[in-house]
Amino acid sequence: MFATIPLGLVILLSLSAEVLGVPRPVLPAAGQSIALKRRSKPVRNETEWAQWAKSQRDAVISKYSLQQKEKRGTGENLIVNQGYDSSFYGTLAIGTPPYSFDVILDTGSSDLWVASSTCGTTCEGTGNFDATKSSTFKSLGRDFEVTYGSGEAMGTLSEDVVQMAGFTIQSQEFGSVTSTSSNFLQNPVTGLIGLAWQSLSSSGAMPFWQALASDGSWDSPLMAFQLTRFINDSQAGSLEPGGSLTMGYANESLYTGAIDYQDIPGGQASYWLQEITSMTVQGKSVSMPSGSASYAAIDTGTTLVAGPSSGIAAIYAQIPGSSPGTGDWEGFYSYPCTSEVNVEISFGGPSWAVSPADFQFQATGPSSDYCYGAFYAIPTSGSTPQWIIGDTFLKNVYSIFRYDPPSVGFAALSDTALSMNGVDAIIPSATLGASSATVTANAASPATRTSGAVVLLISVVLALVVSS
Ligand SMILES: *[C@@H]1O[C@H](CO)[C@@H](O)[C@H](O)[C@H]1NC(C)=O
Ligand SMILES: *[C@@H]1O[C@H](CO)[C@@H](O)[C@H](O)[C@H]1NC(C)=O
Ligand SMILES: *[C@@H]1O[C@H](CO)[C@@H](O)[C@H](O)[C@H]1NC(C)=O
Repeated sequence: MFATIPLGLVILLSLSAEVLGVPRPVLPAAGQSIALKRRSKPVRNETEWAQWAKSQRDAVISKYSLQQKEKRGTGENLIVNQGYDSSFYGTLAIGTPPYSFDVILDTGSSDLWVASSTCGTTCEGTGNFDATKSSTFKSLGRDFEVTYGSGEAMGTLSEDVVQMAGFTIQSQEFGSVTSTSSNFLQNPVTGLIGLAWQSLSSSGAMPFWQALASDGSWDSPLMAFQLTRFINDSQAGSLEPGGSLTMGYANESLYTGAIDYQDIPGGQASYWLQEITSMTVQGKSVSMPSGSASYAAIDTGTTLVAGPSSGIAAIYAQIPGSSPGTGDWEGFYSYPCTSEVNVEISFGGPSWAVSPADFQFQATGPSSDYCYGAFYAIPTSGSTPQWIIGDTFLKNVYSIFRYDPPSVGFAALSDTALSMNGVDAIIPSATLGASSATVTANAASPATRTSGAVVLLISVVLALVVSS
């Protein structure tokens, strides 16, 4: 749908320029000579030239260092932890004037969309996007549709100014969504920002993050996540501070030691893929096939950890008293809640431990001694990664998603980062794209702990379909 100017029009335009007598540069005809003029006396003496030279140099330094400041940068977006670690959302702003929206931060997909004000009942209760209020809004007149593990969103492909973490993309394509599957959006969340690579985008649009990384807007070509843990905090509310997403840098006060980067296998970036090279449960290793059979998508938009049934069965085989779930819990396993399950995963470098608190997902019933584990089996196909490494794992590390070279890095969380887990603190509010979020008190009702978790249990927000 790119507008091309017909050749005939180009010719017509250049003709009319001549016809209308637009001044054109006069070039010497071949063989003609141009008289050279002798340079007249300098207009400045030595002292004045020295001052002139200095001021020129200073101006150039200041101009380019200013430009560099404008062009390259860093930004932070404070995250909200929703539904006891079920999902993590941030904020962005769309339009002129900008309106802010809470969106799921999803490294497992690549489309950006927000619920439109014309969205029906499925988007009820959320502050939706009203295109008529933005002077820069453009409808691209194409259908937008994206399918995730947990549902789908449909609408129209649109374009507008989008701001996040202090960065702006003037013509960002996004879906203005008019319907979603039921329960996809949990108030106050109004949409989703896909933070994986363009090749995975259903609409084909360049993702916001990738546009910034590829045009050199970031100091360092990477974004980094710190995600908080509230799953084992009985005092937690349904919204809690969720950590941070930084663009253009990794916040050194949130991790210790070195960041271990591992390349995305095959160099073909779509998902943020890593190969699981080893996994242990209670210190015993689970056999992992090599190559693509052990590829995992590193996915902030997925709550738990999903894997092939053989790998998941091998994990629970190391946990005495475990048994497969049935009915709605098919694919899950239960085990005695008193067992401390220690899983460690390596992607080629150090092994990263998942805390027993994150492994223990939920009791099988009120006052039950059995709990479901956070690792569960899904049917796998050749076209999607075998494993999906979600927040259950990511709460235990500082994670870095690097554009160049395409790789994922993990580092140990610092005491500063760990001290934010389970802490009663104020919840970040909308940022309007400012480089750091303004934090204001936001009274979230402690509400329905169990039902919230169950509804969001299936929020496997991972793009399944790579279309167009
Ligand atoms: C250069 O010109 C300025 C005034 O324009 C004068 O004050 C200064 O003495 C001159 N310096 C030299 C080295 O001629
Ligand atoms: C929750 O789990 C973490 C990690 O195992 C642990 O450090 C913390 O003390 C636990 N919090 C509560 C309230 O049990
Ligand atoms: C890094 O994280 C600390 C702890 O959350 C925070 O106080 C600080 O503002 C952050 N710095 C930057 C540059 O993001």
